[in-house]
Amino acid sequence: MQISPSILSADFSRLAEELRAIGNADWAHVDVMDNHFVPNLTLGLPVVEALLRVSPVPIDCHLMIEDPLRWAPPYAQAGAGSVTFHVEAAEAAGQDPLVVAREIRAAGARAGMALKPRTAWAPYEGLLPELDMVLVMTVEPGFGGQDFMADQLPKVAQVRAAISRRGGTGQIWVQVDGGVSADTIEACAEAGADVFVAGSAVYGAESAAAAVDRLRALVARHAGA
Ligand code: DX5
Ligand code: ZN
Repeated sequence: MQISPSILSADFSRLAEELRAIGNADWAHVDVMDNHFVPNLTLGLPVVEALLRVSPVPIDCHLMIEDPLRWAPPYAQAGAGSVTFHVEAAEAAGQDPLVVAREIRAAGARAGMALKPRTAWAPYEGLLPELDMVLVMTVEPGFGGQDFMADQLPKVAQVRAAISRRGGTGQIWVQVDGGVSADTIEACAEAGADVFVAGSAVYGAESAAAAVDRLRALVARHAGA
């Protein structure tokens, strides 16, 4: 069970301090948005390179950008421990998601593939051997602080079941992102998620570190369930 706070809800004028505040987390989730794949713009490779120099925890890059085959591998080469691309972005560019995942792994990171809420999982099950993580979005990507979409939990369960069918032993992770809080995280764990992204629930709290500990305590008892 891993907690990955999203710095989208952090103070962008103090990112180094904001990262140091979550040194008890497993990852720092960095949302890269290009204002094309999603209607919002955040940061890109030069800022991620700077964050990598100061982060106390490995960086989990969530790329909400077009043309992932071109842009995802450099984040891995820069040192991000996990790089997640959107399958919808790959397909819109005529790119094979399998090739994008292989390129991320070849560049040295764990390869994640994300699904927007309206994207079904079933067509992609065959990609599992090429993936280290599947990200099931529990909001429409683009903004922090949105309401959790409980109707995505069956998809989380489908992904978990597919991993189990293939004899997955915890090597392939299932991440949830969007609206994850103390109120919703246990339902995610029960459905089969094991990596939890939380932005506003962590950086909106009085103490980010205490919020991380609280979320972790809520899911700890679901470990291995
Ligand atoms: C949304 C981002 C999320 C976002 C989550 O597009 O991918 O990572 O920061 O924020 P909360 O936890 O506030 O929903
Ligand atoms: Zn994200």
